Amino acid sequence: MSCIMNEAPSSPPGGLSQFMDRRNFLRTSVLTGSSLYLATSKSAVAQATSPDKVLKVALVGAGAQGKRLLESCADITGIQFVAVCDIWGYNRNQTAARIKHTYGACNAYTDIDDLLAKEKDVDCVLIAVPDFLHAPFTRLALKAGKAVYCEKLMANTIELAADMVRAQRETGGILQIGHQRHSNPRYLNVRDNILYGNSLLGRVTHCYGQWNRGVSASVPLTTSKSTEIDSATLTKYGFGSMEEFLNWRFFSKYGGGPIADLGAHQIDMFNWFLKSPPSSVIASGGVDYYDGKDGRAKFELPDNVMAIFEYKLPAGITRAYYQVLTTTGSQAYYEKLMGIDGSVVISESPATNQIYREPNAPSWIKYSEGKDAILARSAASVHNKWWEKPKPWFRAPSWMDVKSDSRESKALEAYELGVTLNRKPHSPHLENFFTCARSKDPKGLNCPVDEAFRSAVTVLKVYESLKTGAKYEFKPEDFKVA
Ligand SMILES: NC(=O)c1ccc[n+]([C@@H]2O[C@H](COP(=O)([O-])OP(=O)(O)OC[C@H]3O[C@@H](n4cnc5c(N)ncnc54)[C@H](O)[C@@H]3O)[C@@H](O)[C@H]2O)c1
Repeated sequence: MSCIMNEAPSSPPGGLSQFMDRRNFLRTSVLTGSSLYLATSKSAVAQATSPDKVLKVALVGAGAQGKRLLESCADITGIQFVAVCDIWGYNRNQTAARIKHTYGACNAYTDIDDLLAKEKDVDCVLIAVPDFLHAPFTRLALKAGKAVYCEKLMANTIELAADMVRAQRETGGILQIGHQRHSNPRYLNVRDNILYGNSLLGRVTHCYGQWNRGVSASVPLTTSKSTEIDSATLTKYGFGSMEEFLNWRFFSKYGGGPIADLGAHQIDMFNWFLKSPPSSVIASGGVDYYDGKDGRAKFELPDNVMAIFEYKLPAGITRAYYQVLTTTGSQAYYEKLMGIDGSVVISESPATNQIYREPNAPSWIKYSEGKDAILARSAASVHNKWWEKPKPWFRAPSWMDVKSDSRESKALEAYELGVTLNRKPHSPHLENFFTCARSKDPKGLNCPVDEAFRSAVTVLKVYESLKTGAKYEFKPEDFKVA
């Protein structure tokens, strides 16, 4: 099982086009002055053209996400994959062959200790193993002097996540956490230009996010007898059975359930957009489907969770509602910010890219015209993508035209977001990491460990509310590591 991502076709290596559409890049950079991603993109260009150093990279964990990281590096210049480590020969051999094909050679390892002992020249380690291994592997790699890109969620417990913060502090190393939306120019456009730069949404009172994935989405994962790992190896590396090894996300020993797997991305976005951790959370959820009955798999962690976070912001309370449902794929996955003047809906899928102006809000025309436009006035294409406008081919019968309330909601004015990403969603984040690894300067990282720690706490405290049934009030010290 892996997160379903909609991948934009990658553009050829080199030049600004590899970061985003050039017209949009210019538009956005003009509007934001020295915006975060303008700075990132400049360093990316410098890196791409720098003859100085080719960074040697090792991949640890060659499962679904490890493979995606490898693919996402295909248009990044100045790096060379030289090694892979995975306990599962099936994934390790496939990935070693791919690396060999692309980069000329690849050393394959079963054990991270072995890799770190032998690959002294490796500069960067990408970690994409189950969550319970993030902290120990990150510590080992940082202590070996490697720059580390570790996948989200930082860990399946707050204690392990805190250990990653400490490991970074102790070593002063480069540690980027794989919350890749932090480097996505589409998300940066929403935060820096729309939400803050021009305050187009007015006061945001509510956020919403969901990742709905139906039961058909290949869970539980299985494999053929011939590719199974022997039980001695599984035991050696801490896995109870092949079923648990493949479906580790649903067991607290290895992962944090769908709320940590999928919610990690979107709850992190609530914090990132609002520039604050929450003040409270109340949640409800349970094992609604994978309960072992009627031939279904039996998983430990809740497959369906709903949570409401409150953020105490200077303008008042913002409420953020989140749901992850594995029993329906209805309306897939996206994040939404709802303000008094407008609402925006975005996801990593470029199809979800709409912004709506409230009828009484100031005009947005100037933001959608000219070379500096950050919005696209394209009601016709917005039309088909969201339920706030009827489909154009749908002619309502006259009986449906009857208003049920004299003060029904007025239709909002539809626009699209004006910045696109013409690469795979992980590429800008990886590129930001390699830029910082090359300069050995952690200050440029788009998702440093302290920020990711606040997201890990935000997500994992959902379980506190699920356990007690009560609202959990965050304390400032929850988000700090001593
Ligand atoms: N950022 C994203 O969008 C995104 C998407 C999917 C997954 N992820 C994250 O990536 C990580 C991996 O997820 P996945 O979907 O690839 O899982 P997966 O189960 O497909 O792959 C995990 C791999 O790690 C290997 N592994 C397990 N124990 C190991 C050990 N001790 N040493 C070396 N290798 C070991 C397994 O054999 C397997 O090949 C998770 O933390 C997940 O949350 C992130």
